[in-house]
Amino acid sequence: MSQQHALRIGLFGFGVVGEGLYKVLQQTPSLKASIEKVCIKNADKPRNAPAYLFTTEKNEILHNNNINVIVEVIDDADAAFQIVSAALRNGKAVVSASKKMLSEHLPEILALQQETGLPLLYEGAACASIPVIRNLEEYYDNDLLQSIQAIVNGSTNYILTKMFAEKLSFKEALLQAQQLGFAESNPTLDIEGYDAVNKWTLLLNHAYGIVEHPNNLVFNGIQQINSYDASVAKERGVQIKLVAQAAKLNNGTIAAFVLPQWVATTHPLSFVQHEYNGVVIESSLADQQFFYGKGAGSFPTASAVLSDIAALRYQYRYEYKKLLQQTPARLGSDFHLRVYVRFNEASVIPKSDFTTIEEWHSGQQQQYFIGVIAFSKLQNSLWWKQPDVALIATSDPIVQDVALKNLQKKSLALAGVAVA
Ligand code: HSE
Repeated sequence: MSQQHALRIGLFGFGVVGEGLYKVLQQTPSLKASIEKVCIKNADKPRNAPAYLFTTEKNEILHNNNINVIVEVIDDADAAFQIVSAALRNGKAVVSASKKMLSEHLPEILALQQETGLPLLYEGAACASIPVIRNLEEYYDNDLLQSIQAIVNGSTNYILTKMFAEKLSFKEALLQAQQLGFAESNPTLDIEGYDAVNKWTLLLNHAYGIVEHPNNLVFNGIQQINSYDASVAKERGVQIKLVAQAAKLNNGTIAAFVLPQWVATTHPLSFVQHEYNGVVIESSLADQQFFYGKGAGSFPTASAVLSDIAALRYQYRYEYKKLLQQTPARLGSDFHLRVYVRFNEASVIPKSDFTTIEEWHSGQQQQYFIGVIAFSKLQNSLWWKQPDVALIATSDPIVQDVALKNLQKKSLALAGVAVA
């Protein structure tokens, strides 16, 4: 898209993000971008914009030659995929914030961009206002990226903050997250970790060139975390956060998962409260870097969408360098995790799956232990997703190689087996 061309936008969706973008564009005339038409599902809903802008007929936008950019911010992933595919095929640049659609259709999305040569930008789909995708693409366009730890879902972080710092019930905290426009229209997507793993799928691609369906990643949400878990965390001086993590293992593959995790008060992520998101990147040369910003809500997401629209002016597109120009990394499972496990009924826990159990605490109703388990055992089981069980990764949970061998020796020694 050349400098001279005005950006004439066809917008799909006028919810929290769409309306936010409409307002923001009115305040940024210097961008020379105008919304020509907005496609909505429900024509009867009152809207804060002139009626002539709206249509319920998607082809009025997709086949409109006057429109050169499609911005898609709806929350129906299947419809979003159809819109985005048709838009690219009809020669239009696309900006999207539909993380579910993008992550579930990543291979097709990549192919469509290659086939049409057109840009599809989606900074608003992960960590809202934090420019994490462009940083991973442009600044970390090398193999120095060692690890990323991130809070990528604003609603769960908001709920955990409200529950543990302000003693609100889960229900009250969720209601607030919904009222403030942070939660998905189906909040299960937030609470059970689906939204976080969708975002993680996208970030894994830009960080390491990994193309994986979100269903194939190990993930959980915060639905099992209760006040007992919070009191144990408090005693130990840590917070519980929903953390997405990826790290280069000693064998060069990438460990990746999204799990509730203990976060030490000295860790930058402990600073991330309410609907904020945070990303901690470790690279071989720069050591630790911390990105922080609002991860949900109308204007923070609109800000990222706006930045993508502006980037179309200078022909910006993702090059997917790690995937297309370097040797993409592979996901690995040759590592162990140190985890906290809380339960009522010991029989539901496969204790023999643990390489070692380091601490065991029995309360009157709840019990917990801290143990080390092979990641592959978690990949191949679901006991840790049961309602009366909570599995929380400890701070710095990845255990591999020497540390693991030492643990194994220690546990054999405890069992009375002679070790060399
Ligand atoms: N429901 C999402 C969240 C919205 O809470 O993070 C932003 O993607």
